[in-house]
Amino acid sequence: MAQFQIRKDDFSALRVVSTGASVAIEEGEVKVKINRFAFTANNITYAAAGDLIGYWQFFPALGDSADGWGVIPVWGFAEITDSKVDGLPVGDKLFGYFPPANDLTMVPVNISENRFVDGAEHRSALPPGYNTYRRVNSELGYDASMDNERMLLWPLFITSFCLWDSLQVNNWYEAEQLIVISASSKTSIGMAYALHEDDKAPKVVGMTSTRNLDLVNSLGLYDSSVSYDSITDIDPNIPAVIVDMSGNSEVLGKLHSHLGDNMKFCVNVGITHWEATGTNEGIITERSEMFFAPSHIQMRIKDWGVEGFDKKSADFITQTVAKSRSWLKLKTLSGLSGLEGIYPDICAGTVAPDEGIIIEMEELRKD
Ligand SMILES: NC(=O)c1ccc[n+]([C@@H]2O[C@H](COP(=O)([O-])OP(=O)(O)OC[C@H]3O[C@@H](n4cnc5c(N)ncnc54)[C@H](OP(=O)(O)O)[C@@H]3O)[C@@H](O)[C@H]2O)c1
Repeated sequence: MAQFQIRKDDFSALRVVSTGASVAIEEGEVKVKINRFAFTANNITYAAAGDLIGYWQFFPALGDSADGWGVIPVWGFAEITDSKVDGLPVGDKLFGYFPPANDLTMVPVNISENRFVDGAEHRSALPPGYNTYRRVNSELGYDASMDNERMLLWPLFITSFCLWDSLQVNNWYEAEQLIVISASSKTSIGMAYALHEDDKAPKVVGMTSTRNLDLVNSLGLYDSSVSYDSITDIDPNIPAVIVDMSGNSEVLGKLHSHLGDNMKFCVNVGITHWEATGTNEGIITERSEMFFAPSHIQMRIKDWGVEGFDKKSADFITQTVAKSRSWLKLKTLSGLSGLEGIYPDICAGTVAPDEGIIIEMEELRKD
């Protein structure tokens, strides 16, 4: 059993820990083999918010001297290889939240034809959306050829969908321009697709780094674009709502100050610029709020029911994934050594935004 770990106090320090033979499962448990997963800036955010939101608790670091080391969760596919649970046979294929590792032991509860929840004690206080696993072979029209796109884009585009929904509910915060920071991120691009199709949406300004400006413009989704060093090009006379994926306190401080009273609201979604977070006296905190997709999903499930939410979000995601094929290039790397190789670039934000990193575990390749 091997597991990819990083230092909680220094994300550049990484190691792959092998723990020898895996432990036999007990009654009520299943063991799964992790077959493939995706890795983006979203996963680095899990590390950066590891203590705040509890991401370190999902998959405890294994091996000797594990103190100070953490496991970043990933979205991917796995297959049951051993089962002591009625109704969950060996061979069942799952989509959900896994460690970057060979295998995982789970304690399934609330088992239905289409899904179950990992009821492991150490996960019980964590957001339920992350503990739910889809039994994909039972899904109507399940198509394995979509697996890579699904694990890469589903967690991001479901957030894009929720953001679009939330902005509509709040009547765009009375804004006439919507500024998206870290516009080249996939979560931003997914939201930009929704806004582009929505006649009621304000005009959308994409803000990005100089190196990603061409890609952002080439998408044809943002009405205009601006780089981080040209913030003052944004018209401060137009009431604005900001959707921020960057967490960059200097950028936020400058932009809020530049807009002043016309900074109607700032939705804090992500921290792609995780090394530049913090406080800045220019930030208008009283009109800023954190957005957490799992909470929005729970709220909408109460309004629309599980099936209602699944249908609305799945329709959007399926269409947006199809549109993304025009620019997205999937890059498949092999095993945890492949992750070790690409991880520093993802951490530093130097992977091209139109690349989608897929890790295919070595065992699968040898099959
Ligand atoms: N709140 C929620 O519930 C929720 C849900 C899903 C995602 N998110 C967040 O949304 C953000 C976007 O995630 P994603 O997976 O869509 O991102 P992604 O596609 O991997 O985004 C890559 C882009 O992020 C920026 N970036 C990444 N690392 C950087 C670094 N070290 N320094 C500077 N810029 C860096 C660059 O964009 P620019 O040059 O354009 O800045 C880069 O092109 C993440 O923070 C994620 O956690 C939040």
